[in-house]
Amino acid sequence: MAAGPGMGWPGLFLLLMTTVASTQSQGCPQRCECMAKLKSVACQGKRLSALPDSISSDTRLLDMSGNMLRWVEHGDLLSYPRLEELDLSENIISVLEPNAFSSLQNLRVLSLRGNQLKLVPMGAFSRLTNLTTLDLSGNKIVILLDFTFQDLKSLRNLEVGDNDLVYISNKAFLGLVGLRQLTIERCNLTSISSQSLSYLRSLVTLRLRYLSISSLDDQNFRKLGGLRGLEIDHWPFLEHISPHSLQGLNLSWLSITNTNITSVPTAALRSLAHLTSLNLSYNPISVLESWALRDLVRLKELHLVNTNLMTVQPYALGGLRQIRLLNLSTNALVTLEEGAFQSVNTLETLRVDGNPLSCDCRLLWILQRRKTLNFEGKSPVCAGPMEVQGRALSAFSDSALFDHFTCQKPKIRNRKLQPVTAREGQVVSFVCRAEGEPTPIIFWVSPQRRRITTKSTGRVIVLPEGTLEIRYAQVTDSGTYICIASNAGGNATYFATLTVSALPLDAALMANRTYYTGDLNETNLNDTKVFLKFTLDLKTILISTAMGCCLFLGVVVFCFLMLFAWSRGRGQHKNNFSVEYSFRKVDGPAASGGQGGARKFNMKMI
Ligand SMILES: *[C@@H]1O[C@H](CO)[C@@H](O)[C@H](O)[C@H]1NC(C)=O
Ligand SMILES: *[C@@H]1O[C@H](CO)[C@@H](O)[C@H](O)[C@H]1NC(C)=O
Ligand SMILES: *[C@@H]1O[C@H](CO)[C@@H](O)[C@H](O)[C@H]1NC(C)=O
Ligand SMILES: *[C@@H]1O[C@H](CO)[C@@H](O)[C@H](O)[C@H]1NC(C)=O
Ligand SMILES: *[C@@H]1O[C@H](CO)[C@@H](O)[C@H](O)[C@H]1NC(C)=O
Ligand SMILES: *[C@@H]1O[C@H](CO)[C@@H](O)[C@H](O)[C@H]1NC(C)=O
Ligand SMILES: *[C@@H]1O[C@H](CO)[C@@H](O)[C@H](O)[C@H]1NC(C)=O
Ligand SMILES: *[C@@H]1O[C@H](CO)[C@@H](O)[C@H](O)[C@H]1NC(C)=O
Ligand SMILES: *[C@@H]1O[C@H](CO)[C@@H](O)[C@H](O)[C@H]1NC(C)=O
Ligand SMILES: *[C@@H]1O[C@H](CO)[C@@H](O)[C@H](O)[C@H]1NC(C)=O
Repeated sequence: MAAGPGMGWPGLFLLLMTTVASTQSQGCPQRCECMAKLKSVACQGKRLSALPDSISSDTRLLDMSGNMLRWVEHGDLLSYPRLEELDLSENIISVLEPNAFSSLQNLRVLSLRGNQLKLVPMGAFSRLTNLTTLDLSGNKIVILLDFTFQDLKSLRNLEVGDNDLVYISNKAFLGLVGLRQLTIERCNLTSISSQSLSYLRSLVTLRLRYLSISSLDDQNFRKLGGLRGLEIDHWPFLEHISPHSLQGLNLSWLSITNTNITSVPTAALRSLAHLTSLNLSYNPISVLESWALRDLVRLKELHLVNTNLMTVQPYALGGLRQIRLLNLSTNALVTLEEGAFQSVNTLETLRVDGNPLSCDCRLLWILQRRKTLNFEGKSPVCAGPMEVQGRALSAFSDSALFDHFTCQKPKIRNRKLQPVTAREGQVVSFVCRAEGEPTPIIFWVSPQRRRITTKSTGRVIVLPEGTLEIRYAQVTDSGTYICIASNAGGNATYFATLTVSALPLDAALMANRTYYTGDLNETNLNDTKVFLKFTLDLKTILISTAMGCCLFLGVVVFCFLMLFAWSRGRGQHKNNFSVEYSFRKVDGPAASGGQGGARKFNMKMI
């Protein structure tokens, strides 16, 4: 360095001279560059249509990329048995002959990327036992045949991406016992069989990108026990991940991104107890459900970027005792409550920027940690309430803890008691409106202590604004209903009492029948139709009752005869016995006609 350019120039010149001299002595093809020391010959982009003559026979590195080679024959390479690296990428090779490379037993790296290969004939790579890297990407290969790679026992990296692959034969990968990395991408594959993967016993990283596969089936990756990383990216048709699809794997990182899955595949993740990093970004997952990741006890990093995430439920991150990094950047979250975590104390890096956050008491825990948490320079920004809109969390002073970031307990409006009396079959509704900051969630508790929310379905529902609606009221619906308005600030409750009076029996039967058959709904609840239905039901009842009676008499007669025979057989003379016959459930209506009871018949025999 200190010698300066004055001494450097002649030195370099001398070196150049000797290089040229030495390559000339061993023969360097005219348009190529040769380095004697490395024993390399580089003929990139020289429009050559065949291997040039006069390549030294002890050449170790040969770069023929970007030329016009059309095929590779066995004879072409016979004279260079010392080759260790051969680059034939970006030519127009469409044909490989069997045994094309078999004379190159020292070959370690072979690139055929960006050619016109449609098929790799069996035996094309035969005897390349020292090959460690093979790049076949960017060709037009449609199918990988059985035994294509069978001699490549030292191969560690294989690239077969960017082909027109539609099928990988079951034994295509047979023999690749040393393969550690495999990338398959941009193909028209619609499935990857577990059998074809099962030969890759040493595989550590598997990348499957830009594929049209629509589901991951059970045991898809079994026998890949050494796999540490699996990437599934850009599978637009993937919607279903079967619960046992990842069985047999022991991954430390998993990435399922840019697919069409709408929820965290909790069941499939169950077996991955050693997973430390999970990337589920760019999937349409709008809710992170409670305990969705509960079995990932060693997880340290979770990425859910740009998934349109709207809700992180309480304990969504429950079970993650070692979580250090959480990236929820660019989503639709209004809040992220401390209750979502097993513990926030392990958290070091948190990205929640790019979310419409409401800066109320629910985010207080982040505010309190704003100086120690790493936001990677992207502090969360308040989207509301009005007075703090647009302010970054890291910009608040300590006094903000008391001025802002507060919540207001829900208050229920119109708290007058609502005792309601209704007749069976009517529609009953109870109003419950509450205000508070943040907007309270309203749910109801029935007299049977059942929780009724806006998500409940059936006869008793809660309308979006909080009104409880009971359709086709029944006597059993009577009792006290509790409305609970709840937000992060607390709860407010309110009671409503319902008394349902029974209709005369026929009408009650009708109401019951129509509800339980489920063939009446709001749109056709119409007096005329109801009446028709009722007459029809009466017929059914009569017929089924009649049938029940016949059946009953038949059974009684049969029993009678049996008993008679029995008493005769035993030679005993009992003069008194009773037959009990329960006359339940011939048909729904008949049973309800009898009030669901059992009838007892006593008989005397003389
Ligand atoms: C593989 O390469 C090593 C040297 O790196 C050599 O000794 C050995 O013979 C080669 N194996 C075969 C089967 O040619
Ligand atoms: C693969 O899919 C691409 C795009 O859908 C299509 O252009 C190409 O023809 C397909 N190739 C084969 C072999 O089906
Ligand atoms: C993804 O899922 C949505 C809804 O399930 C569906 O409408 C859409 O077509 C799917 N996209 C693809 C590429 O299959
Ligand atoms: C799973 O991998 C971890 C390392 O990531 C290793 O410590 C553990 O023993 C492996 N478990 C099994 C069953 O192979
Ligand atoms: C998660 O996946 C997305 C999409 O493939 C990628 O852009 C991002 O870098 C990944 N994140 C990490 C931490 O690997
Ligand atoms: C989190 O996601 C953002 C947005 O994609 C990305 O820029 C950032 O690098 C991610 N952070 C980490 C630690 O992965
Ligand atoms: C509000 O009610 C819910 C559900 O009943 C309960 O889990 C929660 O602890 C209550 N919160 C307060 C502040 O009372
Ligand atoms: C209505 O049907 C249900 C179930 O079948 C039954 O429990 C109930 O007693 C019936 N009510 C009337 C009034 O028949
Ligand atoms: C109600 O019944 C009508 C006609 O029978 C049907 O078209 C409609 O989908 C039903 N509505 C519901 C909510 O079941
Ligand atoms: C009841 O049904 C009759 C006859 O189908 C129809 O004319 C009438 O509009 C219906 N009434 C209602 C409220 O749907």
